[in-house]
Amino acid sequence: PDWLFFRSALLAWYRPERRPMPWKAHPDPYCIWLSEIILQQTRVEQGLPYYERFVEAYPTVGDLAAAEDAAVMKLWEGLGYYSRARNLLKAARYVVAQYGGEFPATYEGLLTLPGVGPYTAAAIASFAFGAQVAVLDGNVFRILARFANDATPADTGPGRKHFGALASAALGDAAAPLYNQAIMDFGALVCTPRKPACPSCPLRTHCRGYALATWPELPGKTKK
Ligand code: ADE
Repeated sequence: PDWLFFRSALLAWYRPERRPMPWKAHPDPYCIWLSEIILQQTRVEQGLPYYERFVEAYPTVGDLAAAEDAAVMKLWEGLGYYSRARNLLKAARYVVAQYGGEFPATYEGLLTLPGVGPYTAAAIASFAFGAQVAVLDGNVFRILARFANDATPADTGPGRKHFGALASAALGDAAAPLYNQAIMDFGALVCTPRKPACPSCPLRTHCRGYALATWPELPGKTKK
Protein backbone atom coordinates (compact mmCIF):
# COMPACT_ATOMS: atom_id res chain seq x y z
CA PRO A 1 0.00 0.00 0.00
CA ASP A 2 1.15 3.51 -0.79
CA TRP A 3 1.07 5.03 2.71
CA LEU A 4 2.74 8.25 1.59
CA PHE A 5 -0.14 8.79 -0.84
CA PHE A 6 -2.60 7.74 1.87
CA ARG A 7 -1.53 10.32 4.45
CA SER A 8 -0.98 13.09 1.88
CA ALA A 9 -4.42 12.64 0.34
CA LEU A 10 -6.08 12.33 3.75
CA LEU A 11 -4.50 15.57 4.98
CA ALA A 12 -5.37 17.35 1.72
CA TRP A 13 -9.00 16.25 2.21
CA TYR A 14 -9.21 17.34 5.86
CA ARG A 15 -11.14 20.50 6.77
CA PRO A 16 -11.45 20.93 10.56
CA GLU A 17 -14.62 22.99 10.20
CA ARG A 18 -16.45 20.27 8.27
CA ARG A 19 -17.15 18.53 11.57
CA PRO A 20 -16.91 21.20 14.24
CA MET A 21 -16.02 19.71 17.59
CA PRO A 22 -15.65 22.06 20.53
CA TRP A 23 -12.29 20.58 21.52
CA LYS A 24 -10.71 20.97 18.05
CA ALA A 25 -10.16 24.70 18.65
CA HIS A 26 -9.16 24.18 22.27
CA PRO A 27 -6.75 21.27 22.68
CA ASP A 28 -6.98 20.93 26.45
CA PRO A 29 -6.22 17.42 27.80
CA TYR A 30 -9.19 17.52 30.19
CA CYS A 31 -11.65 18.48 27.40
CA ILE A 32 -10.21 15.90 25.02
CA TRP A 33 -10.29 13.15 27.65
CA LEU A 34 -13.87 14.04 28.64
CA SER A 35 -15.11 14.14 25.05
CA GLU A 36 -13.40 10.89 24.03
CA ILE A 37 -14.81 9.02 27.05
CA ILE A 38 -18.32 10.34 26.29
CA LEU A 39 -17.94 9.41 22.58
CA GLN A 40 -16.60 5.89 23.25
CA GLN A 41 -20.01 4.23 22.88
CA THR A 42 -22.10 7.25 21.95
CA ARG A 43 -22.81 9.06 18.67
CA VAL A 44 -21.43 12.59 18.32
CA GLU A 45 -24.92 14.15 17.97
CA GLN A 46 -26.04 12.52 21.21
CA GLY A 47 -22.79 13.02 23.10
CA LEU A 48 -22.02 16.69 22.42
CA PRO A 49 -24.80 18.13 24.61
CA TYR A 50 -23.54 15.98 27.50
CA TYR A 51 -20.00 17.18 26.87
CA GLU A 52 -21.19 20.81 27.01
CA ARG A 53 -23.04 20.21 30.29
CA PHE A 54 -20.03 18.49 31.87
CA VAL A 55 -17.59 21.29 30.94
CA GLU A 56 -20.11 23.85 32.21
CA ALA A 57 -20.61 22.05 35.55
CA TYR A 58 -16.95 20.99 35.94
CA PRO A 59 -14.60 23.32 34.03
CA THR A 60 -11.43 21.59 35.25
CA VAL A 61 -10.38 18.09 36.27
CA GLY A 62 -10.07 19.39 39.84
CA ASP A 63 -13.73 20.46 39.82
CA LEU A 64 -14.77 17.03 38.57
CA ALA A 65 -12.59 15.25 41.14
CA ALA A 66 -14.30 17.22 43.91
CA ALA A 67 -17.83 16.47 42.67
CA GLU A 68 -20.32 14.28 44.52
CA ASP A 69 -20.64 10.84 42.93
CA ALA A 70 -24.41 11.20 42.75
CA ALA A 71 -24.19 14.54 40.91
CA VAL A 72 -21.91 13.07 38.25
CA MET A 73 -24.08 9.97 37.82
CA LYS A 74 -27.10 12.26 37.46
CA LEU A 75 -25.40 14.34 34.74
CA TRP A 76 -24.47 11.11 32.94
CA GLU A 77 -28.07 9.87 32.96
CA GLY A 78 -29.22 8.77 29.49
CA LEU A 79 -25.75 7.97 28.12
CA GLY A 80 -25.69 4.38 29.37
CA TYR A 81 -22.61 2.24 30.04
CA TYR A 82 -22.42 3.70 33.53
CA SER A 83 -19.00 2.16 34.20
CA ARG A 84 -17.72 5.02 32.02
CA ALA A 85 -19.09 7.57 34.50
CA ARG A 86 -17.64 5.70 37.48
CA ASN A 87 -14.23 5.52 35.74
CA LEU A 88 -14.54 9.21 34.85
CA LEU A 89 -14.67 10.12 38.53
CA LYS A 90 -11.98 7.62 39.47
CA ALA A 91 -9.65 8.97 36.77
CA ALA A 92 -10.30 12.62 37.73
CA ARG A 93 -9.46 11.85 41.36
CA TYR A 94 -6.41 9.86 40.27
CA VAL A 95 -5.11 12.78 38.15
CA VAL A 96 -5.47 15.06 41.18
CA ALA A 97 -3.98 12.60 43.70
CA GLN A 98 -1.14 11.16 41.56
CA TYR A 99 -0.32 13.98 39.15
CA GLY A 100 -1.26 17.16 41.06
CA GLY A 101 -4.17 17.86 38.73
CA GLU A 102 -2.13 17.76 35.49
CA PHE A 103 -2.85 15.03 32.94
CA PRO A 104 0.20 12.88 32.18
CA ALA A 105 1.67 14.00 28.84
CA THR A 106 2.69 10.61 27.47
CA TYR A 107 0.81 7.68 25.95
CA GLU A 108 2.12 5.33 28.66
CA GLY A 109 1.25 7.75 31.45
CA LEU A 110 -2.27 8.26 30.10
CA LEU A 111 -2.81 4.46 29.99
CA THR A 112 -2.58 4.42 33.81
CA LEU A 113 -5.90 6.31 34.08
CA PRO A 114 -9.01 4.19 34.81
CA GLY A 115 -11.16 3.89 31.69
CA VAL A 116 -8.39 5.06 29.34
CA GLY A 117 -7.38 2.35 26.86
CA PRO A 118 -5.04 2.44 23.86
CA TYR A 119 -7.42 4.49 21.67
CA THR A 120 -8.13 7.20 24.25
CA ALA A 121 -4.48 7.38 25.37
CA ALA A 122 -3.37 7.90 21.76
CA ALA A 123 -6.11 10.51 21.16
CA ILE A 124 -5.13 12.59 24.23
CA ALA A 125 -1.37 12.15 23.69
CA SER A 126 -1.60 13.38 20.10
CA PHE A 127 -4.43 15.97 20.24
CA ALA A 128 -3.33 17.59 23.52
CA PHE A 129 0.43 16.95 23.61
CA GLY A 130 1.39 16.48 19.96
CA ALA A 131 2.78 12.96 20.50
CA GLN A 132 3.63 11.06 17.29
CA VAL A 133 1.21 8.18 17.88
CA ALA A 134 -1.59 6.92 15.62
CA VAL A 135 -5.12 6.36 16.94
CA LEU A 136 -6.60 2.92 16.37
CA ASP A 137 -10.34 2.33 16.62
CA GLY A 138 -13.09 0.72 14.54
CA ASN A 139 -12.93 3.55 11.97
CA VAL A 140 -9.20 3.14 11.53
CA PHE A 141 -9.35 -0.68 11.23
CA ARG A 142 -11.97 -0.31 8.50
CA ILE A 143 -10.16 2.38 6.50
CA LEU A 144 -6.75 0.65 6.64
CA ALA A 145 -8.21 -2.81 5.90
CA ARG A 146 -10.00 -1.49 2.82
CA PHE A 147 -7.14 0.64 1.51
CA ALA A 148 -4.65 -2.25 1.88
CA ASN A 149 -7.19 -4.98 0.99
CA ASP A 150 -6.16 -6.68 4.23
CA ALA A 151 -8.62 -9.24 5.63
CA THR A 152 -6.79 -9.79 8.94
CA PRO A 153 -9.48 -9.75 11.68
CA ALA A 154 -8.87 -6.79 13.99
CA ASP A 155 -10.66 -8.24 17.01
CA THR A 156 -7.79 -10.43 18.28
CA GLY A 157 -4.54 -9.55 20.05
CA PRO A 158 -2.33 -10.35 17.04
CA GLY A 159 -4.83 -8.64 14.70
CA ARG A 160 -4.69 -5.46 16.76
CA LYS A 161 -0.90 -5.58 16.69
CA HIS A 162 -0.93 -6.06 12.93
CA PHE A 163 -3.17 -3.00 12.45
CA GLY A 164 -1.04 -1.07 14.93
CA ALA A 165 1.91 -1.56 12.58
CA LEU A 166 -0.17 -0.52 9.56
CA ALA A 167 -1.43 2.53 11.44
CA SER A 168 2.13 3.63 12.29
CA ALA A 169 3.21 3.13 8.67
CA ALA A 170 0.20 5.14 7.48
CA LEU A 171 0.90 7.99 9.93
CA GLY A 172 4.60 8.12 9.03
CA ASP A 173 5.91 11.62 9.57
CA ALA A 174 2.54 13.36 9.15
CA ALA A 175 1.52 15.74 11.97
CA ALA A 176 -0.25 13.31 14.32
CA PRO A 177 -2.88 15.71 15.76
CA LEU A 178 -4.08 16.67 12.27
CA TYR A 179 -3.75 13.19 10.80
CA ASN A 180 -5.63 11.51 13.67
CA GLN A 181 -8.51 13.97 13.53
CA ALA A 182 -8.57 13.62 9.74
CA ILE A 183 -8.86 9.82 9.85
CA MET A 184 -11.64 9.99 12.49
CA ASP A 185 -13.63 12.45 10.35
CA PHE A 186 -12.88 10.42 7.21
CA GLY A 187 -14.36 7.29 8.82
CA ALA A 188 -17.48 9.23 9.80
CA LEU A 189 -17.99 11.07 6.50
CA VAL A 190 -16.45 9.06 3.60
CA CYS A 191 -15.26 5.53 4.42
CA THR A 192 -18.38 4.68 6.42
CA PRO A 193 -19.27 1.11 7.45
CA ARG A 194 -22.11 0.85 4.93
CA LYS A 195 -22.51 2.83 1.68
CA PRO A 196 -19.08 4.49 1.73
CA ALA A 197 -18.69 7.48 -0.62
CA CYS A 198 -16.26 5.71 -2.99
CA PRO A 199 -17.15 7.76 -6.11
CA SER A 200 -15.97 10.97 -4.43
CA CYS A 201 -13.25 9.38 -2.26
CA PRO A 202 -9.83 11.07 -2.48
CA LEU A 203 -8.11 7.71 -1.79
CA ARG A 204 -9.96 5.78 -4.50
CA THR A 205 -7.11 5.75 -7.06
CA HIS A 206 -4.86 3.82 -4.65
CA CYS A 207 -7.48 1.85 -2.67
CA ARG A 208 -7.00 -1.91 -3.17
CA GLY A 209 -10.35 -2.73 -1.58
CA TYR A 210 -12.05 -0.50 -4.12
CA ALA A 211 -10.04 -1.82 -7.10
CA LEU A 212 -10.76 -5.44 -6.15
CA ALA A 213 -14.33 -4.72 -4.92
CA THR A 214 -13.52 -6.49 -1.65
CA TRP A 215 -14.33 -3.51 0.59
CA PRO A 216 -17.79 -4.78 1.70
CA GLU A 217 -16.05 -7.76 3.40
CA LEU A 218 -13.47 -5.59 5.18
CA PRO A 219 -12.33 -5.48 7.90
CA GLY A 220 -12.24 -9.28 8.18
CA LYS A 221 -14.05 -11.09 10.97
CA THR A 222 -12.83 -14.02 13.05
CA LYS A 223 -14.63 -17.22 12.09
CA LYS A 224 -16.64 -18.61 14.98
N1 ADE B 1 -15.56 10.22 17.77
C1 ADE B 1 -14.82 9.96 18.86
N2 ADE B 1 -13.76 10.76 18.90
C2 ADE B 1 -13.82 11.56 17.83
C3 ADE B 1 -13.00 12.58 17.32
N3 ADE B 1 -11.89 12.96 17.95
N4 ADE B 1 -13.38 13.15 16.18
C4 ADE B 1 -14.48 12.76 15.55
N5 ADE B 1 -15.28 11.80 15.97
C5 ADE B 1 -14.96 11.21 17.10
